[in-house]
Amino acid sequence: MYAIVYAGSGPGCYRDRDLMAESTSFSAADKAGRYRELLPQLAAVVDGEPDLVANLANATALIRDCVTAASWVGVYLLRGDELVLGPFQGKVACVRIPLGRGVCGAAAATRETVVVPDVDAFPGHIACDAGSRSEIVVPIVEPGPGGRVLGVLDLDSYQPAAFDDDDARGLAPVVAVLAGLRWR
Ligand code: SME
Repeated sequence: MYAIVYAGSGPGCYRDRDLMAESTSFSAADKAGRYRELLPQLAAVVDGEPDLVANLANATALIRDCVTAASWVGVYLLRGDELVLGPFQGKVACVRIPLGRGVCGAAAATRETVVVPDVDAFPGHIACDAGSRSEIVVPIVEPGPGGRVLGVLDLDSYQPAAFDDDDARGLAPVVAVLAGLRWR
């Protein structure tokens, strides 16, 4: 059955195959250029697909391909007053993070992107992977005035100071696409 699917036995299969061929190509050498290349690929991957889990899973795969410094890319979804692990790429991670705790909880509570060049210097950092040295967390906020926090996008790196304002700027429109997905 699997082989038949990838031989292109139906329109859905063709579509998946095209996405896989076209969706992970990054040529720009600079960070900003790679984020620019990411956006249309992300839009193509989620286009016409209503399933949130599928879209977040593909989004994290694309982001990890784009951001080569990232050792872990994932989404936490806000459920009540805690963040719960969603689709991710990388090692097994902490499942539940109370709002306000760690870098993820801080980003969700403040609705601000948090860039952490040195995780050891961030009070309350939650070490899911002892190898992680730096991190960026971007809140995913429902579009529109007074939109609620839906979750966070978290990127970790084994390199110190892997993320900076260029990443915050580059990830902002990416997260806007995620926020525009069907969350319920
Ligand atoms: N370091 C995060 C926890 C999540 S993991 O990095 C995947 C934090 O302090 O919130």
